[in-house]
Formats: sequence, structure tokens, C-alpha cells
Amino acid sequence: MRIVVLNGSPKGKASITLQYVAYIQKCFPQHEFRIVHVSQHIKKIERDHKAFQEIIDEVRSADGVLWSFGLWVLCVPAQYMRFIELISERRVEDAFKDKYTAVITTSIHFYDHTAHNYMRAVCEDLGMRYADAISLDIIDMMQERRRGDLMVFAESFFRAIREKTPTSKLFRPLTFSDFAYRPVEPKTRTDTKGKKVVVLTNAYDTDTNLGKMIGQFRRSFADDRCDRPERY
Ligand SMILES: Cc1cc2nc3c(=O)[nH]c(=O)nc-3n(C[C@H](O)[C@H](O)[C@H](O)COP(=O)(O)O)c2cc1C
Repeated sequence: MRIVVLNGSPKGKASITLQYVAYIQKCFPQHEFRIVHVSQHIKKIERDHKAFQEIIDEVRSADGVLWSFGLWVLCVPAQYMRFIELISERRVEDAFKDKYTAVITTSIHFYDHTAHNYMRAVCEDLGMRYADAISLDIIDMMQERRRGDLMVFAESFFRAIREKTPTSKLFRPLTFSDFAYRPVEPKTRTDTKGKKVVVLTNAYDTDTNLGKMIGQFRRSFADDRCDRPERY
């Protein structure tokens, strides 16, 4: 079988997670592993359409896709997210559709669930067949029991591909809402009795739903100074 490993670690070959992939490779020499350092080379992948296309061709011709990364700030590294964005920006989702996939991570187990949920949702949005995931500690390689768990994970991934086992979906696809918020005059206004209320936002456009809601929130206070437009 041909497995493409999408290495999400910005450290490239020095990735800790990739050492676990190397262990799988050693134990399953009958399979071919193609490792692509997507995060480390993200600038080139963004700039050079041919380089991006080569990766997509690897995915298209693979039997399975292994997403391999270490947790970086509660989720996947930002470079990996950018790669995932490029898949839909450049409309190549079809290369991933119906491919069997699995996720392998290392971390210190702080918010693993966020990263795993994110990756599963990405795989499901791409129409992939999500077979399994494993969340390893950086030191697990030293423990026989965890190396055993890694073998069970790898075997179940290969079996899913070989036997085309059915997979289930966990998340509903996002649906775009065309809801348009129309503010009305507030019936009452709250007196903060001189206290300041700070609203932090990155929404600069006052004409969006969020912009209008923030405007409405401001108008719900009695203090006139809230209506100063210079900050918003
Ligand atoms: C910038 C940075 C952020 C990290 N954030 C998390 C985190 O949110 N949760 C966690 O459990 N581990 C976190 N870690 C630990 C890494 O996930 C861990 O070292 C992992 O093995 C790195 O994998 P890699 O070498 O394949 O990139 C972080 C490490 C770094 C350097």
C-alpha cells in the first residue's frame, strides 16, 4: 500500500511525531510511505503552484493519507492550517475524497481533543474516510505498552484501507447562514453609573451582522459617550 504522510511539524524531519511514523514504517516494510513536509515548506507550497500540485498528485495516487503533527498551541501548527486552507482555495478537494485517512499526534496532552476534533472535521469536510487517530506523549516511544498501541493503530488503519471498512461521520458540515441582522431602537438603556464598558473586536465593517450587533450593544447603554464613533 502507498501511504502519503502529511507532516505538519514546522520542524520537518526533526519532528517528534515523525519518529513514531518511522517506527510504523520499520514495522510494516511491505508498505510504501511518502513523507511530505507541508508545514516546513509552506511558503514554497503557497508560492509555487507546481510544488503544491505535486503534493496533491501524491495524495490522489495514495491508498491512504496519514496526517502527522505535534500539537502547537491547542491545535495544529498554523502552517498546517494554511495548507488545509489551500486545498479548498485551489479547489482540489476531489483528490482527498473517499481516501482512507488517520491522524497521529504527539503532545504533552494539553487540549489534544481540540486538535483531534479539528482534524476530524477537516477530513470529513473533504469527504475522506476517517479510520482512526492516536494521541501519543513525546516519551511514549520508551514504553512497550504504548508502542503496542501504536501497532494496533497502524494495523487498524491498514486493515480499514484493505477491507474498505465502513467509517462514520462525527460532525455535520457547516451550512452558510444568510441571516441578516436588523437592529431596532433599544426599548431601555442601561445606566452604567459612570463605569466604562470595553468591547474588543476585529470587526471593522459596521455594516456586517457582527458590526450591527456591536452597534446595537453600544446603543443599549444610557451613557452618551458610548456613541463616539472614532474608535469604531
Ligand atoms: C510552540 C509550541 C506549542 C505547543 N503547544 C502545545 C499544546 O497546546 N498542547 C500540547 O499538549 N503540547 C504542545 N506543545 C508540545 C508539542 O506538541 C510536542 O513537543 C510535540 O511532540 C511536537 O511535535 P513535532 O515535533 O512533531 O512538531 C507545543 C510545543 C511548541 C513548541
